[in-house]
Amino acid sequence: MASTILVGTQWGDEGKGKVTDLISGEYDVVCRCQGGANAGHTVMANGHKFGLHQIPSGVMYDGVVPVIGNGCIVDPSVVLEEFATLDAQGVSYDNLKISGNAHIVMPYHKDLDGANERRLGKNLIGTTRRGVGPCYSDKAARIGLRMQDMLDEKIFRQKLECALLEKNPILEKIYELPGYTVDQICETYLPYAERLRPYIIESSRFLNECIDEGKNILFEGSQATMLDIDFGTYPFVTSSNCTAGGAITGSGVGPKHVDRVLGIAKAYLTRVGSGPFPTELPQGDEIGELLCETGHEYGVTTGRKRRCGWYDAVIVNYAARVNGLTDLAVTKLDVLGCLDTIKVCIAYDVDGVRYTTVPEHQSLFYDAKPVYIELPGWKCDISNVRSYTELPREAKDYIDLIERLSGVRVSIIAVGPDREQTINRHWN
Ligand code: GDP
Ligand code: IMO
Ligand code: MG
Repeated sequence: MASTILVGTQWGDEGKGKVTDLISGEYDVVCRCQGGANAGHTVMANGHKFGLHQIPSGVMYDGVVPVIGNGCIVDPSVVLEEFATLDAQGVSYDNLKISGNAHIVMPYHKDLDGANERRLGKNLIGTTRRGVGPCYSDKAARIGLRMQDMLDEKIFRQKLECALLEKNPILEKIYELPGYTVDQICETYLPYAERLRPYIIESSRFLNECIDEGKNILFEGSQATMLDIDFGTYPFVTSSNCTAGGAITGSGVGPKHVDRVLGIAKAYLTRVGSGPFPTELPQGDEIGELLCETGHEYGVTTGRKRRCGWYDAVIVNYAARVNGLTDLAVTKLDVLGCLDTIKVCIAYDVDGVRYTTVPEHQSLFYDAKPVYIELPGWKCDISNVRSYTELPREAKDYIDLIERLSGVRVSIIAVGPDREQTINRHWN
């Protein structure tokens, strides 16, 4: 038995989709445990590129059961769009399971997400506007609707009526937006319920039964450590626990069943949306632009250009701590092949004080000036390299440094977007 939690160690888009797809074949079940359609996971399979938001990346393997766990929020329209994309490519999702306890993203959640961003003006979070914050807020406030509620029209109407009593005045009076009637929403959502009914189950029971049968589970994280609502750069975070603990509460599987925690780290750094980013290269910086273009750093969900910067060993070391990482996968190492020299942030300087971990106060993090060491680049294409020993010495030194500064062994190295563009060093 070997179940694994896979988490992002930075600000998202580290290549979780690629690594999930790479290792999914070793598991019987791949379960998403938090987040919603804000995730954008790219998988290259059957010669096609898939951008998955809701459905776990393990869907690409015939024998693997994809599960959307209770900690997720589900936008039924996005799930149905993904069904259509998978149908077009002949990928089966017959095995998909969706937790009846997962909350539903409602149209007013998306309206409120957008309205709240407009209200914040220049202080906006830069959300994906997928309704994530408002949906998780309703979950915590206990006025959310769950997937199981959709299966019973009477209950769905009752709960919706109760929610609209609060949502409509907010939409209409605070944001001057139109409200909703119960009938209006039912007209769209009840047909969704009929399409999704066959997939909705009690997923914690299912997952634990799988474990009892000796099956292995891969918990596919979304977003990342620095976007975690508790451990990230609050308030510039998402609204769920994207760290390893979220996989436990978001699946209903106990921690004793987890053997490994695999952190995914990009060989440089990107961030989408607002918030502090100490190693960010300024807009228009030549190296920043080169990383963005070579690494195709544009969001899968919103198409936004990602902010780019140098690898920050302080945050990956922090991720190792808050997730209890056992292994690291370093992705996009090939992208750095275009640089003469490469910087790595090993500490921060805040008003003359040196920090080797994320400072305790957010204002200190805002003022953190990166302390860099500079390494020689390898200046060649490594996308065809398949073993660690064949990597140029400078690339090996770079990986060794990441390992030393994080305290976690680098088990997987990705050198391109395709499944086979990977170096399996210690994974199995
Ligand atoms: P996720 O959200 O963590 O799954 O990551 P995204 O899919 O949003 O972004 C990662 C991007 O990098 C995708 O376009 C991947 O196809 C691509 N990618 C992943 N690993 C590698 C790699 O090792 N090298 C290169 N060049 N691209 C990669
Ligand atoms: P994957 O799984 C990168 C960011 C948004 C914004 C903040 C809050 O592909 O790595 P939200 O819509 O969640 O309320 O937005 O979080 N964000 C992501 N950034 N990758 C993601 O997912 C993200 N999901 C949310 O840009 O700054
Ligand atoms: Mg992404």
